[in-house]
Amino acid sequence: MGDRVRTNPYLSGNFAPLATEDDFELTVTGEIPRDLAGTLYRTGPNPQFTPRDPNYHWFTGDGMVHAFQIENGKVSYRNRYVRTPRWSLEREHGRALFGGFNPMLADPLSAGHDSGVANTNIVSHAGRLLALEEGHMPFEMEHGSLKSLGYVEAYKGRVTAHPKLDPVTGEMTWFGYGVGDAPFSRTMSYGITDATGQVTRRTDFEAPYSAMVHDFMVTDNHVLFPVMPLTGSLDRAMKGLPGYAWEPDKPSYVGVMRRDAEVSSLRWFNTRPGYVFHPMNAYEADGKIIAHVCLYDAAPLFPLADGSPGFRSGARLVRWTFDLSGATDTVLEEPMDDLDSEFPRLDERRTGLSYRHGYYAADTSNAKSVKMNAIAHMDLATGQRQVCSFGPGDMVSEPVFTPRSASAAEGEGWLTAVVWRAADNVSDLVVMDAMNVDRGPVGMARVPRRVPFGFHGNWVPAEVQA
Ligand SMILES: [Fe+2]
Repeated sequence: MGDRVRTNPYLSGNFAPLATEDDFELTVTGEIPRDLAGTLYRTGPNPQFTPRDPNYHWFTGDGMVHAFQIENGKVSYRNRYVRTPRWSLEREHGRALFGGFNPMLADPLSAGHDSGVANTNIVSHAGRLLALEEGHMPFEMEHGSLKSLGYVEAYKGRVTAHPKLDPVTGEMTWFGYGVGDAPFSRTMSYGITDATGQVTRRTDFEAPYSAMVHDFMVTDNHVLFPVMPLTGSLDRAMKGLPGYAWEPDKPSYVGVMRRDAEVSSLRWFNTRPGYVFHPMNAYEADGKIIAHVCLYDAAPLFPLADGSPGFRSGARLVRWTFDLSGATDTVLEEPMDDLDSEFPRLDERRTGLSYRHGYYAADTSNAKSVKMNAIAHMDLATGQRQVCSFGPGDMVSEPVFTPRSASAAEGEGWLTAVVWRAADNVSDLVVMDAMNVDRGPVGMARVPRRVPFGFHGNWVPAEVQA
C-alpha cells in the first residue's frame, strides 16, 4: 500500500498536506490597499494522517482553514485544522480510521462515528463562521482565532458547501443531497436560514436519480437544482465499484421552482449530459432565467461506473436559458468563453440579480492537462475579457471579490486570491484591482511556505468580526 499512497497525486506536490498550524506576519511587496480591512478565509483538504485508501480522493481530507487578515496595508496569516469529531477521534488514536470514499477500508474503530471533514467552503452568515462540506452539517468556527466550535445541529442533515446569501433579505438558501436514510439516496432537501441564523425551512424531495449535486443556483424568486449524471450507487459501492461515477448515458436535469413554492411544483428541465461543479450566478429576465455556469463535457476527478478512469476535461463558461413560459423543457446552451475556467465568482452584492462582472480562475498555459494559472474578469455587458497570467507552473486559487466600500458600484473593488509559486514552492496572497485585472497584482503578501491547493473562500469585512 505504501508505494501507491506515496504516488497518490493528491498527496504530492502542492496537494500534499501541511503538518503545522502557524501564525505569520507576511512580507508585503507593492501596496495592499488601505481600504481593504478584513479577512480572506479559505479552506481545503489537509489529511492529518496518511489515508487508509491508496486511491485517496482529494475531497475526503480533513479540512484546514487558511486566514489572511488585512489591516492598514499589513497582512497576517493563520492556519488551523477544523477539529471535527473525525479529526479528534483519529488524533486520539494517532492514525487514520475512516475509509474516505471507500467505506470498505474503514477501521472498525470508526464505526458509528461522524465522518465529516468540513473541508470545502467557509462562509460567514448571521455572525457565524461556517466550515462546510456537502456530506454533513455546517461546522462552526470562531472568526479570527479559528477555534473549532462544533456542528450547528439545527440543520439536522447534509448541507451543501455552496449556500447562497441573499443580498437583499440576508437569508441563506441551501440544499442537501443524499439526505435520505440509506446511503446514496436520491432524496434532496431545500432549506432557508433567515438573516438571524434561524433555520426556518427544510423541505425534502426526490431527485430523478442519486447524483452528486455540488452546487445550485438561486435568483431573487427561483431556485435551480442541477442533477447531472455523476451518479451515486450503494449497489455499486457494495460490489467494490465506485460509489460515485460518471454515467453519461443517463439524462441530465435541472429542477426549477419558485423559492417560496412547495417542492411538488419542481419542473425538471433537460440539458445535454455534462457536469457543473460551479455556477457563476443566475438571474431573471423577461420570463426567463439566465444562468452562467462552468460546464464540463464529462465530470472530471471521478471514474466511470465500471471503475475505469474518467476524463480530464476542462470546463467552459456557458449561458443557460430556461424559458419559464415556453413549451420546451430543454435548456438553451450558448458558449461564452474560449478558456478553460473554474471557481467562478461575482460581486456577491448581485447574487441572484442581473449583473455585469464575473471573475474566475482560467487556464492560459497551453498545458496538456488543465492548469489554472490565470485570473480572469469578464465584462458581461461587453463580452470583453481581461486576464492576468502568472509565471510558468504557478497555480491560482478562486478569486474573491471585495467591494471598495459598501456603496461602491458593482465591480469597483478588489480581487484576492492565493497563488502557488512553482519555482520557489511558496504561496502569495495577491490583491488585484477588479477593474484592471490585466495590470496584475497591486500588492502581494508572501507566506514563508506553501499553502496547499484548496477549494473555496470568502472575504469577511472587519466590522462583521468585531
Ligand atoms: Fe465547490
